[in-house]
Amino acid sequence: MLKMILPALLLGAALTATAAAKSPQKPTNVSFQEDVFPILQAHCAGCHAPGGDGYEKSGLDLRSYEGLMKGTKFGPIVVPGDTQTSNLLVLLDGRADKSLQMPHGKKRLTTCDRDLIRSWIHEGARNN
Ligand code: HEC
Repeated sequence: MLKMILPALLLGAALTATAAAKSPQKPTNVSFQEDVFPILQAHCAGCHAPGGDGYEKSGLDLRSYEGLMKGTKFGPIVVPGDTQTSNLLVLLDGRADKSLQMPHGKKRLTTCDRDLIRSWIHEGARNN
């Protein structure tokens, strides 16, 4: 019995170690201006600016840090430090209804882009 459990435990430990290695080392790892904002500009601002469908329907203006932190007409979509309840990530990860996955009607962002945004929120969602 022990023979079977031990490898599983070791594997678990190895996976945990990998996950830890991937998570941010320094609190200032991800920059809003250099890392997060360009993603929003490339994939979101086309619809989430005055005149765009996304902005008109949700009130979310993604042309600036202030707009992102203000959120939609229903409230904030970024909860600094909380990657589980930040609606921004819920939508980007496709954890919400499919009709609400963002970018709307387009391909999901790459894991790399989503992880950058995730780390940025984890680190406090600062305007850095
Ligand atoms: C092709 C246009 C388009 C693009 C690109 C787009 N959106 Fe949207 N977005 C919409 C529309 C339309 C809505 C309103 C959806 C609704 O209420 O039915 C919306 C709504 C939202 C909402 C509010 C959802 C809610 O809970 O009401 C968020 C948050 C959002 N978008 C984030 C993003 C992000 C982040 C990106 C870029 C990764 C993005 N969107 C790209 C069109 C777009």
